[in-house]
Amino acid sequence: GTISTIISSYYDDQCEFPRENLTIGHLIGKGAFGFVYQGLAKNINSKDKITTVAIKTVREDATSEEIENLLKELSVMKMVGKHTNIISLLGCCTKGGQVMLIVEYAKYGNLRDYLRRKRPSGHILSGSFEQDENDNAYKQDDNDDLKRSLTTLDLIFFCLQTATGMEYLHSKKCIHRDLAARNVLLAENRICKIADFGLARDLTQTYYYRKQTDGRVPVKWMSPEALFDRKFSTKSDVWSFSILAWEIMTYGGSPYPSIAAEQLFDYLKNGNRMNQPANCPHEIFQLIELCWTFKESLRPTFTQICESLRCYLYGSS
Ligand code: ADE
Repeated sequence: GTISTIISSYYDDQCEFPRENLTIGHLIGKGAFGFVYQGLAKNINSKDKITTVAIKTVREDATSEEIENLLKELSVMKMVGKHTNIISLLGCCTKGGQVMLIVEYAKYGNLRDYLRRKRPSGHILSGSFEQDENDNAYKQDDNDDLKRSLTTLDLIFFCLQTATGMEYLHSKKCIHRDLAARNVLLAENRICKIADFGLARDLTQTYYYRKQTDGRVPVKWMSPEALFDRKFSTKSDVWSFSILAWEIMTYGGSPYPSIAAEQLFDYLKNGNRMNQPANCPHEIFQLIELCWTFKESLRPTFTQICESLRCYLYGSS
């Protein structure tokens, strides 16, 4: 049938991992696109070793289109290759059962929820009133990190790491289209890793206007030209980075909480933006403002963003 034809057109022996060496554990993520499980893989990185991994798969009753989207994600991940600041592919199972992608596991989960867990008590919230309901999954994993607080410099280092991952993605001609703190994962030693860069996006409408459980809508990370003309580029990723950096500097604040999705384009076109977060250094806010410039050609590249952040953190040399 069509499904097996699609699967065999993507088949690649180099990457295939034996199913019998994979143990699927508990569910750690659920999206419009499928499921993510924690799992254990034998001999995936080195011989006679068991590695904790994340396993992406589709529902049992997935359509051929959903399976093909997962296979497209697989081929983008293969093409992009490895970098410290992106979630990389470890292997896949395409033969003899459900299609599964095996990727690096990030023990602290997504950056947004992590930042909110680590928010200092008494921190002034820049516009965010909602309560998290889905925030317990990683708490038991958090023991090593529990005593370490998050300083402003730690936050700026998260900005640098995500910008470095994006610089790499762009060097591989990959546009993310949905860069946000929810799509950055935090691994051991507080390493930021960009996730979900290989997703086939439904750019026609529904996803970007779909409300998440707490009322946040993905349009709030979109540049005006992406919002209005569906024009996605490296420059629209830079705009999304400005919103991500703002999320980081506010310990996981929600952008424009009082603005409805339908009002956003006019709001931005009239020159309105978000305020400087309480603890955000002036130089860093200036960089964020440069990234949310209305005219896309005036926004910096990720190489320039990394340079500015490195200069702030380490001084110029
Ligand atoms: N949630 C979704 N993908 C994940 C991953 N690779 N590691 C940890 N949590 C995840």
